[in-house]
Amino acid sequence: MRLLNMILSCLLLSTVTCMAEDGSRLWLRYESNTKSEVTCNDRSASAKIAVDELRSYWKGKHIKLVLCKNRFECEGAYSVVSNQNYVVLRSSSSLGLLYGAYALLRIQQMGDESSQWAILKNGGSWRDVPRMRLRILNHWDNLDGSVERGYAGKSIWKWDEIKSKEKTDRWQSCVSLHMSNILFEYARANASIGINGAVLNNVNASPQILSSIYINKVGIIADALRPYGIKVYLSVNFASPAILGGLKNADPLDSNVQKWWADKVREIYKKITDFGGFLVKANSEGQPGPSDYNRSHADGANMLADIIKPYKGIIIWRSFVYGSNHKGEDRVKQAVSEFEKMDGQFRNNVILQSKNGPLDFQPREPYAPIFDNIKHTNQMAEFQITQEYTGQSIHLVYLAPMWAEFFHYVDYHGLCGVSGVANIGDDKNWCGHPFSQANWYAFGRLAWNPELSADAIAEEWLTQTFGNDSVCNSEIRNMMLSSREACVDYMMPLGLHHLFKFDHHYGPEPGGFRPDYPLEWCPAYYNKADSLGVGFDRTTKGSNAVSQYRHPYDSIYNSLQTCPEEYLLWFHHVPWTYKMKNGLSIADNLRMHYDSGVKKVEDYLVVWQKMFAYIDTQRWNMVNDLLKKQLENAREWHDVCLGYFDKKRKE
Ligand code: GCU
Repeated sequence: MRLLNMILSCLLLSTVTCMAEDGSRLWLRYESNTKSEVTCNDRSASAKIAVDELRSYWKGKHIKLVLCKNRFECEGAYSVVSNQNYVVLRSSSSLGLLYGAYALLRIQQMGDESSQWAILKNGGSWRDVPRMRLRILNHWDNLDGSVERGYAGKSIWKWDEIKSKEKTDRWQSCVSLHMSNILFEYARANASIGINGAVLNNVNASPQILSSIYINKVGIIADALRPYGIKVYLSVNFASPAILGGLKNADPLDSNVQKWWADKVREIYKKITDFGGFLVKANSEGQPGPSDYNRSHADGANMLADIIKPYKGIIIWRSFVYGSNHKGEDRVKQAVSEFEKMDGQFRNNVILQSKNGPLDFQPREPYAPIFDNIKHTNQMAEFQITQEYTGQSIHLVYLAPMWAEFFHYVDYHGLCGVSGVANIGDDKNWCGHPFSQANWYAFGRLAWNPELSADAIAEEWLTQTFGNDSVCNSEIRNMMLSSREACVDYMMPLGLHHLFKFDHHYGPEPGGFRPDYPLEWCPAYYNKADSLGVGFDRTTKGSNAVSQYRHPYDSIYNSLQTCPEEYLLWFHHVPWTYKMKNGLSIADNLRMHYDSGVKKVEDYLVVWQKMFAYIDTQRWNMVNDLLKKQLENAREWHDVCLGYFDKKRKE
């Protein structure tokens, strides 16, 4: 009897655990089905994964995977042809077969919501190609397990669960079961959305990442991710030759320094033959760099580029610099001022990586004009998936509309790729907020194809993550699609920016000013609110940041008449009485926006109550609690900011 009881309670427990929806399965909720016939002429590890996934989850007709060499096709492209009897998935690369397999599973999950579903059922064909070559996650993970601006727990890289590897060891035997599961699930999720690179560590890099012990461990991670088409990259500290190597300096033109890097790079490629390359944050926010030795960014980047070139590696050099070399200059102008003069001097395996806006991942910024000014250097955009300035893992803010806005101004054809600062941690559901997963998903899908709409991506994510009830999905989708604008409205509408509390960038502190801090870190410097008016004058009469924009944006932004109102206080300082297009003053309009932001979050809570019937209790409860917190925060932003501006106005 006791035994029977034990068996029964075990069964009960396992059913409950099965039903528990902790979000850990992300958007990968395929139901298993082992009846489909899947054949393939490619024996590679990536094709084997494609075959296994389809054999486990594909419910349709016989499917043939065909690798057919075509050297003109870009890596990852694939085509699908469907007739009455079978589906043929063709690609000239194993990776294309893998991407195609995940696309088929996605379409199967979407069912009638996907236009390709009809092709699969009724016959026809389509082709898909990754529009950009590099689709990379940037993890800001530190070696001690903390994550800079990470809001979903600790780092997923459990360095102490990775043992040193001898030449003949398989990677699986060098990691704990726990780490091996993380690597598998991480790789699978990324491959399913086309991400093909991961920078493992923080841009504020510890030199230790280049020690032999860590290189060995990085090699193990690289082995695990390789079959999924994900290359590993590292952020490096420019002073590593001095700090780690014990040299007198890290001057890029010093031959000892060059030799140190050359030895290091050789050591890395011995372990990781397809290592992607280095990401460098140099002379920015206290990080070391070539300027420490009176050398230019081009000197520093080219030194590394020459060394890594024979191995086909790349150097991703960040343009996020401000401060030291440009004291007194408007911060949003500094990247162009610094890098424009070096355009054309960089090697062809250097890529300049710039944030989407010229300041720092604010809820809304105009696009960064560096994308207009650099014409002879490879460029890449950097988005922030982790919501440092958009409510972190507490607020539901779907970021795809913001990234789509960027691509409206910056032609992706001119970019080699896009990087996303990851929002991934060791939380059970990977991203903290259940809806933050949508931002990881959307980043991958937009990196694959920037022409996809934020709406279509939300639909894909929702259907795969919460099921395909169309009533429920359309209500939640509307909520997602308006959520970025809601965040702008309750935090900093009409072009206001950087009103955040010092250091943690979460709550409001519009009047923030500290004499011991650089001006560029002080909110009051950015909004310039006083008794007469508000806003930062960046017109030709002010800091002249407008002049960095290509025509006609330079003149559109410069004129108060033509400047889009969402950028008004970014480019203009206006009197409080200034009448906007709706005939009301700027003061009244600010109030309207703050009110509307709060109202939107109130509405989200109402919508969410209606969703109770459609969504599993665990995720419903979690989102419900978070929305309540978001509403509390939105009200705080509303009261603090309006209170501050009112006070200033009456001074
Ligand atoms: C922001 C962020 C920092 C980060 C920096 C960067 O300023 O707050 O934590 O290091 O961006 O992008 O380098």
